[in-house]
Amino acid sequence: MVVLGIETSCDDTAVGVVEDGVVLSDITSTQLVHQKYGGVVPELASRAHDRLLIPVIKEALRGAEIEKTGIDGVAVTVGPGLVGALLVGLNVAKGLAQSLDLPLIGINHLEGHISSAFLSHKTLKTPFIALIVSGGHTELIYVEDFGSYRGLGQTRDDAAGEAFDKVAKLLGLGFPGGPAIDGVARTGDPGAVRFPRARLGQSLDFSFSGLKTAVRNYLMGEVKLTPQGIADIAASFQEAVVDVLVSKVERAADRLSVHRVVVVGGVAANQRLRQRLKQNGSLGEVEVYIPEERFCTDNGAMIAWAGWMRLKRGERSGLDLEADPSLGLA
Ligand code: KG4
Ligand code: ZN
Repeated sequence: MVVLGIETSCDDTAVGVVEDGVVLSDITSTQLVHQKYGGVVPELASRAHDRLLIPVIKEALRGAEIEKTGIDGVAVTVGPGLVGALLVGLNVAKGLAQSLDLPLIGINHLEGHISSAFLSHKTLKTPFIALIVSGGHTELIYVEDFGSYRGLGQTRDDAAGEAFDKVAKLLGLGFPGGPAIDGVARTGDPGAVRFPRARLGQSLDFSFSGLKTAVRNYLMGEVKLTPQGIADIAASFQEAVVDVLVSKVERAADRLSVHRVVVVGGVAANQRLRQRLKQNGSLGEVEVYIPEERFCTDNGAMIAWAGWMRLKRGERSGLDLEADPSLGLA
């Protein structure tokens, strides 16, 4: 079964084609229009999706070496995300499914991220604990099986990726901030500044706003922002985020006696996080699965994969399928 997946929940216009779980093509056009504003501007995102989506679909079909008549089903992100951005993908998906007489399936963006682990790790088995770390989410989920989720913890304020973006802005590193901090931190000293780690007692929740404020307060002091100084602050901030993420993952695995952990979402592309999670290929007794970097950030292949799983179970969405900007997973 060949499934085309459309992802337009934020600022990536992305389309993937998957055949029986195998990625045939995956095309992402990251909207550059937001850079000069230092964050995603919702209306500009919708307009850019509107402009880019058809060309990206054409390129994904070309990459998969199939005609649109070669598709067996259409999957599309229905939420969570920016409503205007979601609606562009949803309407194109409906038009495609209707005109080609194909089944349509709506996919939760977070389920898409969880699915990205299966794209890179064909042998991955459930149950596992998933840490979703992106620009909009920081969530620990118990995945009993594909489609069966239980929330264990989530952020009480900023998402991890949001903290990277805000701190990068404070350091004048541009948007999106995650890759920028990841880059400069490589020459920095992670022990240079001891920023706070919000452990929140025994809870599996997260909090990153205090850390962001601590960086801001530190920068308001007598700090010389030399290139080395920026690298040291970036590395110290990144280490604080990574410490918290790694310790919560360990705690969740220990509490539930689950020995398999999956880390997905844009922040899972972070080199320091990947290194800390995969020292010796595992975290103590726990096996760690992280997708290839290209599948960590938003992409169409993860939506196509989740769509394939649901369509082959016989699930279908109707043309009354709606976007839900605050759709939850569990
Ligand atoms: O999953 P994603 O592409 O979109 C959302 O669903 O939010 O995640 C985007 C987030 C942004 O906040 C971005 O700064 C962060 O992921 N990010 C990173 C890295 N690459 C992307 N954060 C840290 N290190 C990275 N290498
Ligand atoms: Zn995402």
